[in-house]
Amino acid sequence: MALPAYDLTGRTALVTGAASGIGRACAALLADAGATVHCADVDEGGLTGTRTLIEDAGGTAYTHPLDVTDRSSVRAVVDSVVRTSHRLDVLAAVAGIMHSSSVLETSDEDFDRVMAVNFKGVLYACQETARVMIAAGTPGSLVTMASGAVDAAHPDLLCYSTAKVAVVQLTRTLATELGPHGIRVNAVAPGWIRTPMTDRHDAELQSRAEAAIVKVTPLRRVGGAEEAAHAVLHLACDASAFTTGQIIRPNGGVAMPW
Ligand code: NAI
Repeated sequence: MALPAYDLTGRTALVTGAASGIGRACAALLADAGATVHCADVDEGGLTGTRTLIEDAGGTAYTHPLDVTDRSSVRAVVDSVVRTSHRLDVLAAVAGIMHSSSVLETSDEDFDRVMAVNFKGVLYACQETARVMIAAGTPGSLVTMASGAVDAAHPDLLCYSTAKVAVVQLTRTLATELGPHGIRVNAVAPGWIRTPMTDRHDAELQSRAEAAIVKVTPLRRVGGAEEAAHAVLHLACDASAFTTGQIIRPNGGVAMPW
């Protein structure tokens, strides 16, 4: 490869949420960079699609049906990755769900569900992956998926944004704890990325929401899944060897925190 710092040949990656959107793009890109990629998701049909995409491009992929809210299943998948590939170098914890309701209309069930998938799912994947990385004594990279929702308050997004803020704090805290083991932990916080998640909106509502975002975005467009995936690849490989506890924002400039 022309850029050795981006070469993941011989390394193994686990991607959650790999059946669709940003997770699928991450899995495909990490495989393009040479990694053996283990794809995990609740959507088994989507997983097959991702594996086919990777294999058709000459890469190596395995699939694992997984609900990230179930800690023992997450542990079993991580153990299976290590049994199959004898190592685990990279985690991309991408699985997530959208939820929209006003604060006054948010139920306990809404809040618990979004926290379970978007926060605890990331926590479990990071804990179980870090456990095997520490035991192996090898360097590793954990990449979490936050969101532009951490940079501003939006109506109807309390559950989603609270979970993503928690993901950022998890990322920073883990970076302090795992750094001495040579394990880096960083977050990607994309702006609006057109994926099946955003496409689930009513079409007219979506085009109005997109138009409003585009208007305040310096690059005057929404993003593509590959653009979020490139940030994940950067954090996964040696190009970011001195980067930990950070947030990368592929967001077209819509937010520019210090
Ligand atoms: P998507 O809906 O296309 O993909 C999400 C994937 O997560 C799906 O394959 C789904 O089956 C999987 N998933 C959901 N619940 C799961 C569970 N309990 N266990 C295992 N897998 C589960 O959505 P998209 O847009 O690709 O989102 C991926 C991540 O990026 C999410 O964490 C989302 O919050 C985040 N994100 C997305 C943005 C966007 O504009 N699309 C912007 C910022 C962040």
